[in-house]
Amino acid sequence: MKVNGNMQNFYYYSFPMQAVLVTCNDRSGKTNVITIAWHTPISKDPPLYGISVAPKRYSYGLIQKTKEFVINFAPYEIADIVNFCGKNSGRNTDKIMKMNLTLAPAQKLKTPIIKECFSHLECKLHDELKLGDHTLFVGEVVNVMADKNAYKKDLLDVEKIKPTYYVGGNIFTSISNIKGVF
Ligand SMILES: Cc1cc2nc3c(=O)[nH]c(=O)nc-3n(C[C@H](O)[C@H](O)[C@H](O)COP(=O)(O)O)c2cc1C
Repeated sequence: MKVNGNMQNFYYYSFPMQAVLVTCNDRSGKTNVITIAWHTPISKDPPLYGISVAPKRYSYGLIQKTKEFVINFAPYEIADIVNFCGKNSGRNTDKIMKMNLTLAPAQKLKTPIIKECFSHLECKLHDELKLGDHTLFVGEVVNVMADKNAYKKDLLDVEKIKPTYYVGGNIFTSISNIKGVF
């Protein structure tokens, strides 16, 4: 038997989505971090990755000004930090300091990576599409970095690394040990 879902939360029906930490700098070089669940690869050639950001977010103006951002993939061990960075604004909170996150230089951008995350996509703003109440920032991926032992032949070692997934509301989860090889 089927029941009708709640249209207002239609996007929850596509969840869980991996919740990522996106770093972006202000003009003075100070780094902010925003939690993003609405994100997707878009193109292989050129390599494009999109994040959907509401204009009221503090990070929105930062990305528009610096034209760059880094996608940091967070392990489940720091899911509480992912939640905090999605519930507090860089307008009035230094989330990096408060959450004790460690920044390290990116290779191609001024915006840093977050060391506690297991992989990083360095993105230069390629396009900006206002779509409804969010804007799709399309980044050209100019560099990829990852922890040495997190990937085997570019595939996440899912027995070792548990990414952070967002179910919706206040609920987070990760992946189980099920690994189908077909
Ligand atoms: C798990 C989670 C996922 C989120 N995903 C998005 C998203 O995809 N796009 C967005 O604009 N806001 C998203 N948010 C909300 C922002 O992360 C939140 O408003 C944050 O405080 C904005 O930070 P800033 O003002 O420092 O930019 C999400 C929040 C949580 C908790």
